[in-house]
Amino acid sequence: MPRAPVSSTPVLEVEHLVKRYRDVTALAGVTLTINAGEIFALLGPNGAGKTTLIGAVCGLVKKTSGTMRLFGVDLDVDPLRPRYDVGLVPQEVNFDPFFTVSESLRIQLGYYARPPDEARIREVLEALSLGEKANAQTRALSGGMKRRLLIAKALVHRPKLVFLDEPTAGVDVELRRDLWAYVRKLRSEGTTVILTTHYLEEAEELADRVGVINSGRLLLVEDKAALLRRLGEKRVRITFSTPVGVLPAGLDGKAELAEDRRSLVVTERNGKPSAGEVLQQLYMGGFPVAEVDTRASRLEDVLIEVLHGGGGA
Ligand SMILES: Nc1ncnc2c1ncn2[C@@H]1O[C@H](COP(=O)(O)OP(=O)(O)O)[C@@H](O)[C@H]1O
Ligand SMILES: [Mg+2]
Repeated sequence: MPRAPVSSTPVLEVEHLVKRYRDVTALAGVTLTINAGEIFALLGPNGAGKTTLIGAVCGLVKKTSGTMRLFGVDLDVDPLRPRYDVGLVPQEVNFDPFFTVSESLRIQLGYYARPPDEARIREVLEALSLGEKANAQTRALSGGMKRRLLIAKALVHRPKLVFLDEPTAGVDVELRRDLWAYVRKLRSEGTTVILTTHYLEEAEELADRVGVINSGRLLLVEDKAALLRRLGEKRVRITFSTPVGVLPAGLDGKAELAEDRRSLVVTERNGKPSAGEVLQQLYMGGFPVAEVDTRASRLEDVLIEVLHGGGGA
């Protein structure tokens, strides 16, 4: 899907943001810039400060110090107008149980200073498979349906920036898949998405950039692909059609031959040693290469490495 053109003004600029509760420092000076049109995944363990950061930007948490600019507007100068273009899918279900599904979306439009728009409400409900529930009382919805309504509420006013705070925690596979598809659709329309998640595969699947936060500090912010390249390890298994004899001398220490001499493994770190070069030497030496299998390390391994020292910025 083609990406919508993105403007160069950052969507969000957070500088030296601090949030202290009594004796807890939830945010210890976070500086972060989010670009228009990107999907940014904020990863970190429980209590890292993810929800607090989102809350500060959305005006639900009062910051201790620091500055935040939304769409170029300082939130200390104008705390209201820029926030009309933000959508939030909160971690916890938080809607009034006494409205119907479509009523709650109508109220949401009003809350974001938008006129009622029945066509838009129907569109969002259909997109989230809630069409048949339009007139149901929200309290009568199943857990999964409540989640879908939370997402519908966050999106109905066509926000330019959407926060998804652990949107798929505890949801079924079908909803997760629907949501991923919807996030990609949002991005293709130029919407900026910031999501927090415990599911690393979710970040790996969706994100353009990844930030890792722990104890209120951003440990790193990096392009996802670059991060995986920089810290990730790639294991390449090369299988031979018949057992081989002695490896070419140039491969000493670069490749590990299996006991049965029918395969070897090259562990590439930061691109070294290059599995491609190893392969070339094998081909040139006339080795009977039958199969090459690559397994890149997952973001999960990378994250563990960052959180436990090493690799951090
Ligand atoms: N209302 C609050 N009062 C006191 N401490 C809080 C409050 N909200 C969050 N905290 C603390 O701030 C830290 C960050 O919490 P949070 O932002 O919810 O983390 P995350 O979303 O990454 O799990 C935690 O230590 C948490 O206990
Ligand atoms: Mg949280």
